[in-house]
Amino acid sequence: MSVVTITREGEIAVVAVNNPPVNALGQMLRQGLWDAVGALDADPSVRAVVLICEGRTFIAGADVTEFGKPPVPPHLPDLVDCIEGAAKPWVAAIHGSALGGGFEIAMGCRFRIALDGASVGLPEVGLGIVPGASGTARTPRLAGVEAAVELVTSGKPVKAAKAAALGLVDAVVTGDLRSEAISFARAALERPLPPPVSQRPVEAPEPEFWERQEKAISKRARGEAAPLRALACLRTAVEADFSDAMAFERATFLELRSSEQAAALRHVFFAERAAGRPPHLAAAEPLPIRLAGVVGGGTMGAGIAVALRDAGLPVVLVERDGEAVDRGLANIRNVYDGAVKRGRMTAEAAAEKSSGVTGTTDYAALADADLVIEAVFEEIGVKRAVFDKLGQTCRANAVLATNTSYLDPRLIAEGLPNPQRFIGLHFFSPANVMKLLEIVPVPETAPGVLATGFALGRMLGKIPVQAGICEGFIGNRILKRYRASAEALVRQGVAIDAIDAAMRSYGFAMGPFEAQDLGGLDIAFLQREGARAEGQDVPETLGDILVRAGRKGQKTGGGWYDYAAGDRTPQPSTAVSDLLSLQVTGGADLPAEEIAARLVSAMAEEGTAILSEGIARQASDIDLVEIHGYGFPRWRGGPMFATRAK
Ligand code: 3HC
Ligand code: NAI
Repeated sequence: MSVVTITREGEIAVVAVNNPPVNALGQMLRQGLWDAVGALDADPSVRAVVLICEGRTFIAGADVTEFGKPPVPPHLPDLVDCIEGAAKPWVAAIHGSALGGGFEIAMGCRFRIALDGASVGLPEVGLGIVPGASGTARTPRLAGVEAAVELVTSGKPVKAAKAAALGLVDAVVTGDLRSEAISFARAALERPLPPPVSQRPVEAPEPEFWERQEKAISKRARGEAAPLRALACLRTAVEADFSDAMAFERATFLELRSSEQAAALRHVFFAERAAGRPPHLAAAEPLPIRLAGVVGGGTMGAGIAVALRDAGLPVVLVERDGEAVDRGLANIRNVYDGAVKRGRMTAEAAAEKSSGVTGTTDYAALADADLVIEAVFEEIGVKRAVFDKLGQTCRANAVLATNTSYLDPRLIAEGLPNPQRFIGLHFFSPANVMKLLEIVPVPETAPGVLATGFALGRMLGKIPVQAGICEGFIGNRILKRYRASAEALVRQGVAIDAIDAAMRSYGFAMGPFEAQDLGGLDIAFLQREGARAEGQDVPETLGDILVRAGRKGQKTGGGWYDYAAGDRTPQPSTAVSDLLSLQVTGGADLPAEEIAARLVSAMAEEGTAILSEGIARQASDIDLVEIHGYGFPRWRGGPMFATRAK
């Protein structure tokens, strides 16, 4: 079957693209469109052309799978020019998403119309590249410089209505896109044609504009090459002539395309898509989820309830007594109040979301729930008592999940009737924000229940990753190793603030010690103490010494650092130096790159052990866990990718 088909509606030709799944611009499609321009130019009975796509979306961009290979003609920039230079005007009819090269093709057309709800954008910076087929040169000519800078350097698409307001599309339509586009083309032929986009004027901003943008982008996208390089392309597009701007953009695109950052971001792009649809569950049917329950309305339970509400599910929240119910509901309202304050939600929408949570102490309210997620105290006795009640009150086929961080889910499920419906669903705090969801089956978990975990992840907009059972699953186990390795450096004499600074310059928002001060050192301490009480041999950590001295982090005025009252700026602490002086045996002074290399290698080593034990299914899953749960810089690709043999 051909990827490009031409049909006729009188003097209007309709060029239909059909290149599943997302009409990416592989070589065959580029050639097909190139040939279509030639054929329609040569046909005197054609007066205008509609370009439309089959399937779920308009052209979603260049074919990312071709990026590792040498470019094959016709090249995309030449194709865009070829469409723009066609003897007949082309009308792009957009549904779904017109992204990257797809939107560049649309900008080569004389007109663009979009179905209401469609979006357009230039997401290339998210792949570590800049638009490579005139996106930086044509966008400012359609939407002005300021909007173009926002679109190209953020990579965020905009919806049709906003695109129309910005001038990116000429009309937003509803109903049947094909017939709307044909009518639009007919009407357009009655009027003088606007100039091709490349020939439209562009107004240069004052020179300070560029400096301001550079500063803002350097801050927002610290460490990333592409956004600043895209800004340089946009500036050239405004200050140089069109063909020089195109040459500059193409050279930048080709250089970045083979960069390490682009390789890393492509790896993450494909890893994210692969994670959501594990092949071993292809035949498993997820169970429908229409009503969800959450037991425990503390930090995690409240966040999980909000995540479920945000996906449109009604939620029953069960707490241990009336006061705790009120606190849990207040926790949920607080999350929404914050969203309203930040302008992310209207007060009405927040009230509607909150009112979709029913608080109760009565487990009978969970009798009809399709899924219940337990998020009570991290104590095996408390959790087992909860599952006892769930076993008695919930439907036999309701999925019952625990959010435990460290306990063995097999022990939590012990004695549960129908254990095939039991699963670990490990959310990260704040649960309504963090993208990672570790899915932990027990040996009895049915494939359909595991598939339901993945379906829930997708429904909540999360990145679901399957993890096997071990202490800390994938993420917290690597975190433990990371922290231990950072402490080992301290013991060798590397300064605490030098380690944090090194990890920040590697791309983390925070280093390992300042992050512990923010979250509190006591949680991990108590967990180690618990293990010691059970007779396990858990060596004393430096963190233990600090907690025993009352230094639990910011909340106690000090942890690894000192903090002045009301100030969250970490100050190196002589008290800490004194407390740890006996433990520090060396005087190492390592460069930042070496510190980061050692800590990332330690994470990857733990990752390799996790893989060989079958705790993670694939290395890319470990990278996703670190990126989406622990702030590993996306543009480094995760610890496994960053340390791979090259
Ligand atoms: N190239 C190759 N394959 C792509 C692709 C692309 N640009 N975009 C998506 N795919 C593949 C995915 O890998 C996935 O494959 P799989 O089924 O084998 O896992 C399949 O298409 C479906 O993708 P999604 O699961 O993401 O489908 P959705 O319906 O959820 O989303 C979408 C559709 C919004 C179009 C989303 O796929 C997307 O955002 N794609 C990327 C768009 C993009 O980044 N475009 C710019 C490319 S760079 C470029 O154009 C450079 C140019 O300036 C020269
Ligand atoms: P929390 O202490 O904030 O909340 C626990 C809630 O459970 C409290 O509101 C309490 O009243 C309620 N509760 C206790 N016993 C109950 C019972 N028998 N019936 C009903 N409700 C009961 O604790 P948090 O932080 O929300 O943790 C909950 C679970 O989530 C723990 O297993 C924890 O390990 C896990 N977790 C915590 C993360 C975090 O960052 N805080 C991250 C991921 C998982």
